[in-house]
Amino acid sequence: MNLTEKVLEQLIMTDELVSGESLAQKLMVSRNAVWKAVEALRKQGYDIEAATNKGYILSSQNMKLCGFQIKKALKNNDNILFFDETDSTNAVIKRIAEEGTAKEGTIAVALSQNSGRGRLGRSFFSPCGGIYMSILLRPSFSPEQCLMLTVAAAVAVCRAIEKNSDAKCEIKWVNDIYINGKKVCGILTEGAIEAETATLKYAVLGIGINLKLPNGGFPEDIAERAAAVYNKEITAQKKAQLIADVVNEFFYFYENIEKKEFMKQYQMRSYLTGKTVSYERYGEVFTAKVLGIDENGGLEVLQNGEKITITAGDVSVKPQGEKNG
Ligand code: BTN
Repeated sequence: MNLTEKVLEQLIMTDELVSGESLAQKLMVSRNAVWKAVEALRKQGYDIEAATNKGYILSSQNMKLCGFQIKKALKNNDNILFFDETDSTNAVIKRIAEEGTAKEGTIAVALSQNSGRGRLGRSFFSPCGGIYMSILLRPSFSPEQCLMLTVAAAVAVCRAIEKNSDAKCEIKWVNDIYINGKKVCGILTEGAIEAETATLKYAVLGIGINLKLPNGGFPEDIAERAAAVYNKEITAQKKAQLIADVVNEFFYFYENIEKKEFMKQYQMRSYLTGKTVSYERYGEVFTAKVLGIDENGGLEVLQNGEKITITAGDVSVKPQGEKNG
């Protein structure tokens, strides 16, 4: 390993500032040699910040570094596309899926999106400090069963976050991951239907996770409900490990999807169970108490004394004290 690589290795291993002096001592070279190595790394595209008299820190907001680490941590890393910024990773995957040559399992990962898409035509706030990824799937099941992809992905995200932090995750049906009552992750599964046969051509599973609070905070409209997994910037290594864990956990479930191994965990993590929610159906707003999640991922509720199962759409938690309809 040459000095530049050794300096990179030292910077990768920490999420704190490292002084030039301590690097020089550790690597038994002069401070000037360390400085030259840092400059060489910057020329190679690594984003290294320097604080006067305090030292250097490698930003994990840099896909060159993160991508290298993700590839190392993934079980199957054949087809990954990395972006510092893109419009939407779901859109990226759709475009290459339409071209017809992209393999199942192709992944797009971005450090920020400028046109992030959410469910029900909403936008998804996607600044630096989060992670945004989409996976191309070609499942052999019917379009209605796509809900299973979201359910499996939600459990995979919870498991990966818990493996890489002290957080305890819950799932707000059907696609949001919550920590301490606030949303840290959203999932958007989009399917393309073959018009003639009404079968699924392909599906795109998109996952967006707020890793740290964005600079300047969350926009006003989501500030009350949104949170981040970590309270500071994490190393590229940690970020990569989290991404790889999400992907690896998801593919384990996906390859055994008919066993629905994830369903029990999804049910146990249900944020809505026992809560009163409101939702729209046939143009009317209803209020109901959530009983739980059924074996197909549907939301079972008690509405006016009648047990019904909701399989699509959005529900919101009714604020405490508000009169039930
Ligand atoms: C939601 O909360 O409504 C779902 C948000 C899904 C966001 C992810 S980020 C990666 C992928 N690309 C997108 O444009 N959207 C999904």
